[in-house]
Amino acid sequence: MARGRFISFEGIDGAGKSTQHAWMVDRLRRAGHTVVATREPGGTPLGEKLRALLLAEPMHLETEALLMFAARREHVAQVIQPALERGEWVLCDRFVDASFAYQGGGRGLDWKKLDDLSHWVLGDLQPDLTLIFDAPVEIAQQRLHAATSNPDRFEQEQAAFFEKVRAAYLRIARENPARVRVVDATRTPAAINKELEIIIATI
Ligand code: TYD
Repeated sequence: MARGRFISFEGIDGAGKSTQHAWMVDRLRRAGHTVVATREPGGTPLGEKLRALLLAEPMHLETEALLMFAARREHVAQVIQPALERGEWVLCDRFVDASFAYQGGGRGLDWKKLDDLSHWVLGDLQPDLTLIFDAPVEIAQQRLHAATSNPDRFEQEQAAFFEKVRAAYLRIARENPARVRVVDATRTPAAINKELEIIIATI
């Protein structure tokens, strides 16, 4: 059986990636595909417990990175690999690029350490396609504040943090042109859906 397709959704908080993730899950299911809709950190019972800690508890920067990758190890083993082997589509709301962008770009953790963790945990598993929903920090912050009354530990970060996260995402896009597409997230959801329709047709 053909291996399934693996798509990850990325972007700074407030860019609108979760809305587009939900839209594409629904779109592909209506087209008759079996789709596993999942997210990071999380995606397994243990991963969701780690998520609750990661979003609430202050911790050392390296602890944060290690817990992100611990949750990811479980997620890959329990959910992502088995689904891909069954020939299903996996649509993941954030994946490994978020660790490079947030822990690497945002918090300043050595990129090499993240590379090592990534090789350890993923081997050569990478998404077939990564969509980075990109918007200026000011616009994303406005959306976030309008949508969230109880911001988590990451959402409480200042604009300067998100500028660094955004720059890291754009660096990842430049360095991985075959895998990564940057989607202009300043447009209306309907306009973005149209672009995603075109992208779906090519994968
Ligand atoms: P997010 O998708 O923004 O959740 P929600 O839309 O429910 O608020 O993810 C939660 C946070 O986790 C987000 O602020 C980014 C952060 N994160 C990392 O810092 N590193 C990672 O590797 C991952 C997967 C997420």
